[in-house]
Amino acid sequence: PNACLLAPSILAGDHANLAASLKEIESADLKWVHLDIMDGHFVPNLSFGPQTVKALRPNSKLFFDVHLMLDNPDKYIDAFLDAGADQITIHVEPDYPVMETLDYIRSKGCKCGIVLNPGTDAQVAKPFLEKCDIILCMTVQPGFGGQSFRDDVLPKIKQISDWRESMDLNFRLEVDGGVDMETAPLCIEHGADTMVAGTAFFKAVDRPGFVKKVTGR
Ligand code: DX5
Ligand code: ZN
Repeated sequence: PNACLLAPSILAGDHANLAASLKEIESADLKWVHLDIMDGHFVPNLSFGPQTVKALRPNSKLFFDVHLMLDNPDKYIDAFLDAGADQITIHVEPDYPVMETLDYIRSKGCKCGIVLNPGTDAQVAKPFLEKCDIILCMTVQPGFGGQSFRDDVLPKIKQISDWRESMDLNFRLEVDGGVDMETAPLCIEHGADTMVAGTAFFKAVDRPGFVKKVTGR
């Protein structure tokens, strides 16, 4: 099994000083940062775009885990590759060529994966599993930080984890939304190995304690 990683989301960081938020992540001895990109169409909110990601890139050696919440993610892959993404995850719900887009991201030497909204069935992920470095299960309806974890997503996480084992694959299994010290252990129990946390990470008073608990170390 993969060692458990925590990828803080800078959506909950300081948007007047995101470079400082990256430093906070590095100070916690973490290796990944999660970057939430929202288009105001696929989700009812806007965050930041490739220009911001590109500006952050020289400030940090963190692994840039870019989560695209866009209606047309295929039209923005080049921009995020150029911005320095290490991994790009794309939703399966909008209408665009998902398989081709995964192939394209991979062909450029970037890691790739798919994202499932809470209401999206595990079966939808199945045709893509072999192509993916990571499968992201949303545990809130995407668009906003600070929402409550949806434990009805846990069986889906378990299902995808079981397929990973039976198909002898080794993609990471990531969860995003409402992940904190109480909900992370549930995700780990159901097979997840990559925790995104925005609000809970940046609000944590005892950061080392938080990291330890959330990664199950
Ligand atoms: C939700 C985003 C999440 C969000 C998580 O639309 O994809 O990454 O920032 O935030 P918390 O941890 O606050 O639920
Ligand atoms: Zn996200």
